[in-house]
Amino acid sequence: MTTQQKIAVIPGDGIGPEVARASVRILERIAAARSLPLTFDWFDFGAERYLKDGTILPDGFMQRLRDEYAAIYFGAVGDPRVPGNEHAKGILLAMRFELDLYVNLRPCILFDDRLSPLKGKGTNELRFTVFRENTEGLYTGTAGTFKKDTPDEIAQEVEVNTRKGVERIIVAAFEFARANKQTRVCMADKANVMLHGHGLWRRVFAIVAKRYPEIQAKAMYVDALAMDLIRAPESYGVIVTNNLFGDILTDLGAALTGGLGIAASGNIHPDRVSLFEPVHGSAPDIAGKGKANPVAMALSGAMMLEHLGHLREAKLLHDATVEQVREGKHTADLVPLLGGAASSTEEVSAELLARVERRLAEG
Ligand SMILES: NC(=O)c1ccc[n+]([C@@H]2O[C@H](COP(=O)([O-])OP(=O)(O)OC[C@H]3O[C@@H](n4cnc5c(N)ncnc54)[C@H](O)[C@@H]3O)[C@@H](O)[C@H]2O)c1
Repeated sequence: MTTQQKIAVIPGDGIGPEVARASVRILERIAAARSLPLTFDWFDFGAERYLKDGTILPDGFMQRLRDEYAAIYFGAVGDPRVPGNEHAKGILLAMRFELDLYVNLRPCILFDDRLSPLKGKGTNELRFTVFRENTEGLYTGTAGTFKKDTPDEIAQEVEVNTRKGVERIIVAAFEFARANKQTRVCMADKANVMLHGHGLWRRVFAIVAKRYPEIQAKAMYVDALAMDLIRAPESYGVIVTNNLFGDILTDLGAALTGGLGIAASGNIHPDRVSLFEPVHGSAPDIAGKGKANPVAMALSGAMMLEHLGHLREAKLLHDATVEQVREGKHTADLVPLLGGAASSTEEVSAELLARVERRLAEG
């Protein structure tokens, strides 16, 4: 008997539900055609639910995710009606931390030369993958404010770096490089000023690198790396860094490879329930207008299929989506790069579904 793989779909806020609907339809089609044991359960957690009855995530939900689900397919959270964003922290950051999803995997791969904003840098040059530490750093909420709203106010966030946390993300980056025949791993830090926390990163990086003699290992200051990613992106294969720097570098990576509308990510704990989501947020400025690019969500779906062991189907969806970006209709965000007219979310996802159908029929 094949083991069922249950997927928790949390579309969230803004454009989240629009792109989630489009992509789950495609995933369901792939699952049906290839007899994959996938089932999709939808959950309405997000701003609407929070405003209605105060629920962020119900008691016991994390445990259910751990026990029952193989993956989480996530849209985005963030709503102007919740200015403090507390529901978003309680949903997405809580899942990252409590499910210990320590690898935030963000490929920054250019699919078409026309999407590159850099002169002379195309698909051969822009192909790097970022491993962002996802459970520590400056995002743990180890923080406080003293004497608030007075001239003497003190506000601080403490950066958390543990030996275990640093080591496992660096090992994940090297393992990925080895498995994908990548020859370079670069670590980004600020060890020149953050002597303790980032000194730990430097020491652990040097120790781990010795176990991968075939891979060139380089540690760089993040400011120098940000500059060099624009100047010579071809010098980078795998980049590993902390939570904050990874957050910033991957928005840069998205801008170098076609924008947020096509940037995908995985929040992964190897061999455990993991979460797949577009890099973009809930985009309230375009929500409900049929303008959301569904590509980032579809590519995140391909990463999820790969994580679940459906390698052929992951490749099928990934390749069809890349072909869609290169040859098919596109949403307004890609018009400045690709030219032509803007199509709606529905038009792009319907055409992508047709490309998937064709590939399924070819066997
Ligand atoms: N993972 C997440 O859930 C996540 C990530 C980032 C931001 N947010 C939240 O989202 C809200 C909006 O944040 P923001 O505006 O800084 O970032 P955003 O990613 O939502 O939007 C930035 C810009 O990119 C555009 N954009 C984003 N996704 C797009 C898509 N699929 N197609 C076309 N255009 C797209 C938006 O229209 C906007 O102009 C905030 O509440 C923020 O906290 C959530």
